[in-house]
Amino acid sequence: MKRDIISVLDMKDDLEDIIDLSIKFKKQRYEQFPEYVNHVLGMIFEKPSTRTRISLETAMTQLGGHAIYLNPNDMQIGRGETIGDTARVLSGFVDVISYRAFKHENVLELARNASVPVINALDDLEHPVQIVADFMTVKERKNRVNGLKVAYLGDGNNVANSLILGSVLLGSDVSVGCPKGYEPNKKLLEAGQKIARETGTHIEITDDPVKAVESADVVYTDVWVSMGEEKERDQKEKLFSRYQVNSDLVAHADKNYLFLHCLPAHRGLEVTGEVMEGQHSMVFQEAENRLHTAKGILRTLLQ
Ligand code: CP
Ligand code: NVA
Repeated sequence: MKRDIISVLDMKDDLEDIIDLSIKFKKQRYEQFPEYVNHVLGMIFEKPSTRTRISLETAMTQLGGHAIYLNPNDMQIGRGETIGDTARVLSGFVDVISYRAFKHENVLELARNASVPVINALDDLEHPVQIVADFMTVKERKNRVNGLKVAYLGDGNNVANSLILGSVLLGSDVSVGCPKGYEPNKKLLEAGQKIARETGTHIEITDDPVKAVESADVVYTDVWVSMGEEKERDQKEKLFSRYQVNSDLVAHADKNYLFLHCLPAHRGLEVTGEVMEGQHSMVFQEAENRLHTAKGILRTLLQ
């Protein structure tokens, strides 16, 4: 049976194993698998990408296979061919598909119709592959991913949704500081609460940024305006300024806190340049880990 990674929940049983495999790949950067010669990753991107696109393509190439970037505007999908038909056709050509989409439903539809594994490369609801790299970075620095407090400041968006699920699955508490009305997705929060009960962890949602960051081992933020939400920029920038990760706010975190950001970052908005460039910031290690975790994910799905 093929396996997809559409949500962090699809890694419920082996998220930490994928992280450990990715750590191995980091040590053996050019390890190749002869069985992947002629294996192809088809990468559909409806939105721009630097890290996800390049890490997936590089990972597939270094593992011994090949990747093709597919812009929907250059495909018949841009002229109305259905996602279902596209999935069935692509399944006859490629061995695995990644899809960055505006709508979560479209990723689900692609996965339902594809007979090869599908990786969600970000949609409006989740960013599961990002979270693997985030916790890999945490594990490298803290030697563990459990028993920590993860604080997320800002918009309750796709990254926040996936971060909550990843935190509780791995055994860490998570606290989200966000303005009222910008909380993470309700359904995923419910799923997270269920897991939190199983793993003995806690999810906190608060509009108080100091409370969220209090004693945190990891302080995480993301853009206030996600791709496709550009119309909300002015309104959001005013509303979110209290949630900026700056030196005053991180003074409330644990003294050995790590700063993470999925990137791209906007210095002076969700984070100050000082925190981005400060000694606690792991953002470029986190970005590099996208490559190693792309390999961990591809290897897990293809074997
Ligand atoms: N963090 C992340 O997914 O970056 P890209 O949009 O550049 O892929
Ligand atoms: N929340 C951001 C993440 C970018 C990697 C977005 O969806 O644009």
